[in-house]
Amino acid sequence: MKCVKVPLKQLNDTRLKLMEDGLMNMDYRIKAEDEFGYIPVNENVEGYEIVCMHLEAMKKVPHNFSEILKDELTEDEIENLRTSFDTIGDIVILEIPDDLVSKKQIIGDAALKFTKKQAIYMKKSAIKGTIRIRDLEFLAGTDDSVTIHKEHGVRLKLDVRQVYFSPRLATERLRVNDSVCDGERILDMFCGIGPFPVLIAKNHDVDIAAVDINEDAIKYLNENIRINKLKGNVKAYCGDVREVSKSFNHKFDRIIMNLPGLAYTFLDVAADLIEDGGTINYYEFSDSYEQGIKRLTDAVESRGMEVEIINTRKVKSTSPGEWHVAIDGKVHMKK
Ligand SMILES: C[S@@+](CC[C@H](N)C(=O)[O-])C[C@H]1O[C@@H](n2cnc3c(N)ncnc32)[C@H](O)[C@@H]1O
Repeated sequence: MKCVKVPLKQLNDTRLKLMEDGLMNMDYRIKAEDEFGYIPVNENVEGYEIVCMHLEAMKKVPHNFSEILKDELTEDEIENLRTSFDTIGDIVILEIPDDLVSKKQIIGDAALKFTKKQAIYMKKSAIKGTIRIRDLEFLAGTDDSVTIHKEHGVRLKLDVRQVYFSPRLATERLRVNDSVCDGERILDMFCGIGPFPVLIAKNHDVDIAAVDINEDAIKYLNENIRINKLKGNVKAYCGDVREVSKSFNHKFDRIIMNLPGLAYTFLDVAADLIEDGGTINYYEFSDSYEQGIKRLTDAVESRGMEVEIINTRKVKSTSPGEWHVAIDGKVHMKK
């Protein structure tokens, strides 16, 4: 490699001058050795001593995902991929459309370079089964599916292969957290690794019973209770909430029901356990709020109570025309 050799004292000024004149070779690192500096150049430069030296090549860090993939994919394809990124702690999960699966390795490597995360996985199935997990294929990085996700000041440890977790519900969790009052007794019927209970107990002096049928989710919930400094109490229960709830000897001021595909089948359990004046945070997949409001109303009315709908919102889109909807109902005894 051709270099300009200068005494170390002149290194900076010479470097700036060569850069200004467009003579410096920016692909290699400057070297300092034995009182001299060696600046890579593209050609012989008059007025300087030129020597040949081995210099280390600069690592080219591509500054964005599009730049890395621009020769492989169209701009639209890149944009679609970019919006499919789910970042959970140090892990990225990508949704790669069928027509790009043949390029999954290039895409995975690009995502690793772009995000500098620990691992890149690709979705291999929809979320399925009772415990609501999906199949993942490892693409790049280190195949370690355990990570710690930070959300609203809490740390959530989980294994993305073994438990359900969606970072896309972060705003919804904060909204529910913000509506909680100190002193509430809360039941999270389908708590997963505990993102609702841990966040709520971090910020409020409350008592939470958190139930999940997935043993791994409860294992991580217990770790999450331990690694976060909580104001409130969270007690973890592993099992089917229909069975577990038989052991509760009091009612609850709030019941969280985030199992949107099936929560409606547990509304009878919630109606039995809600306090007069308590709130049910009910979720379902639907194209409207009417169906959920009717289901909630029917369930509480069958127990001689009535429900006042205090809030409804679309949490996220699940497929064209269908939403993960949230319905908050305040339940009162009929006068
Ligand atoms: C959609 S995930 C929600 C998890 C958590 N609330 C969150 O927001 O990340 C639903 C959870 O319900 C659990 N589950 C499914 N059926 C259940 C049942 N009958 N009793 C208790 N938990 C159940 C699953 O294991 C899963 O972790």
